[in-house]
Amino acid sequence: MDRSEGKFYLTTPIYYVNARPHLGHTYTTLACDAIARRQRALGVDTFFLTGTDEHGQKIERSANAAGKSPQQFTDEVAGEYKQLWDRLGITYDKFIRTTSEEHKRGVQAMFTLLKERGYIYKATYSGQYCVFDELYVDVDTPGAPCPDCGRPTETVKEENYFFKLSALEDQLLKLYTETPNFIRPETRRNEVIAFVRSGLKDLSISRTTFKWGIPVPDDPGHVIYVWLDALCNYITAIGYGSPDKKDQQQYARYWPADLHMIGKEIVRFHCVYWPAFLIAAGLPLPKQIVAHGWLLFEESKMSKSRGNIVRAETILDVLGADAMRYFLLREIVFGQDGSFSFDALVQRYNSDLANGLGNLASRTLSMITRYFDGAVPAPPKQSSEAATAIKQQAESVIEGFGAKFADYDFSGALRDAWSLIATVDGYIAEMAPWKLTGEEDRAKLSEILYTCAESLRVVIALAYPILPDSTARIWSQLGLGDIAKFELRSLKWGQLSAGTKLGKVEGVFPRADKSAIERMQQMEQERNTPAAPAATSNENTPATPAAQSAQPAIPAPAPVAGSGTITIDDFMKVELRVGQVKTAEKVEKADKLLKLTVDIGTEVRTIVAGIAKAYDPEKLIGRKVVIVANLAPRKLRGIESQGMIVAASFGEEGVPALASFLEEVPVGARLK
Ligand code: ME8
Ligand code: MG
Repeated sequence: MDRSEGKFYLTTPIYYVNARPHLGHTYTTLACDAIARRQRALGVDTFFLTGTDEHGQKIERSANAAGKSPQQFTDEVAGEYKQLWDRLGITYDKFIRTTSEEHKRGVQAMFTLLKERGYIYKATYSGQYCVFDELYVDVDTPGAPCPDCGRPTETVKEENYFFKLSALEDQLLKLYTETPNFIRPETRRNEVIAFVRSGLKDLSISRTTFKWGIPVPDDPGHVIYVWLDALCNYITAIGYGSPDKKDQQQYARYWPADLHMIGKEIVRFHCVYWPAFLIAAGLPLPKQIVAHGWLLFEESKMSKSRGNIVRAETILDVLGADAMRYFLLREIVFGQDGSFSFDALVQRYNSDLANGLGNLASRTLSMITRYFDGAVPAPPKQSSEAATAIKQQAESVIEGFGAKFADYDFSGALRDAWSLIATVDGYIAEMAPWKLTGEEDRAKLSEILYTCAESLRVVIALAYPILPDSTARIWSQLGLGDIAKFELRSLKWGQLSAGTKLGKVEGVFPRADKSAIERMQQMEQERNTPAAPAATSNENTPATPAAQSAQPAIPAPAPVAGSGTITIDDFMKVELRVGQVKTAEKVEKADKLLKLTVDIGTEVRTIVAGIAKAYDPEKLIGRKVVIVANLAPRKLRGIESQGMIVAASFGEEGVPALASFLEEVPVGARLK
């Protein structure tokens, strides 16, 4: 990825505005920010794009649920994303919103172009759709779970515009073969190849049953499929489709993108659909798509729908932006899934930042202040063996850091740089410079402190894209001015001039103690616990699937006798709550039963449910379900079932379909 000339255009996904940003979104954006900063430091003309994905059925429903117009709702959440990125020091060059005029115009231009080139036709679509993933799902059973997220799919039958995806199979396979680096890492590339080899169907690219989207040109009863709309952001943001000459020049300068960075769950859209649209339109293809793994929290993917999110703001408030940036890029092996925990965060912060970098900086700078009156001492002409070894290690770190970074191995790059810190720490301990205060030791002391200061400078110069704030401060304490002006390409050992006057020296990473962990946990807990039962915040929501024709999956108590109607008070006797499945397993010798543990907010219940024929236990983990929370416990196959899970039951066999929500609902919320 390092380029000596030319340009570098990189993008994050544009995030859905159905909910507020969390650490998962932050992770991708931070990785891109680090890359963008390094490219700029190397003198490369860089364009860094991020933004928000604001159309589609999912957003429309979330806005309804919040009792707001879609535009008002998206304005608010897009604003939160921007605010967070600004607090985090994200140096995006542009923030694209898909509700902007420039974007709409560009998407319509793309649609028209695809149509003119013969890739679009009209036909009737009939099949299942997952609103959560905004994905057409290749299954035929109404209500069947989405193979990606497990939520029930909805049946769509309407006249749509179709894109001739099937015609592009060979060209896509050729692309993957001829450009082996097009998809990284390799595992994702193999999955994509297998998916395309298994055959592509044409793709429906318009909808008529809701309004919140970009109208199809000359056929405004249709809105353009949200993924076609969203993917086009990568070109509309830099000027595609604009009549303005400057925009056109910008597009010509930066397209094709050098890097689309994404999470692994949206690989298909980026590696199959997006290049297919571009090939069909006759436009150049992006150079590379990199899919990283998931940030896990409490064992499962951090996501707003699972409700197991951590907000970046909490970490910012307690430890600051650099601590978070460093942790995420150092702790997680890029490409793989990695766990987040507050303990690990604070441990890393203390060991690598407070003790590691922070300690080296404060020791070095304070000794130079004390022994050399705040001016960097000159190294001797003839270096000692120990100092030479450090110089050599620094040189190999400089070289290796760039190569690893270019290969998205942020963790490895940082590990190497920090091993230089460890070496210098050992060197200081061994040399004990505080004992070398006599005149006869002057040359030796000079060498030691020069070596420490120069090592510090090298580590800071390299780490700057990841720790922009703290490295800038240490850089200026070293008397080197503005780190943003430093040309990274020129970095080599020995550039630090003797006589450089240090700036004002002060600590950069105060140690964190256990209370930092507790504080962060508490802040998260407070934010996650709704003040009032959350169902009331959804007053404007149309009846949820849970409320419609719900029937228990295990036998319900006898129906209420009498007139066939019940009073609201009768209904309120049934305590229905949102629960989240934590574990699920088959019950031995009972082919219909699953044993679940379900978090209902206040406690975790064991529940036995007759749904084994319809649901794989693994697929249920993390799923939100509706629980009858005040049902007397009963024993099934020797297991005490402490509640009932609500499901619709249909067909002669009584196939169960679990009640669930399209909106985000917190665990424990009451249904009423
Ligand atoms: O998919 N771990 O938006 P989205 C790591 N609008 N990364 C995570 C993460 C986690 N737990 N959670 C989210 C969409 N992400 C579409 C994209 S692009 C044309 C349209 C990051 O709000 C990761 O980058 O669901 C993931 O791909 C993205 O957020 C999904 O954000
Ligand atoms: Mg998502």
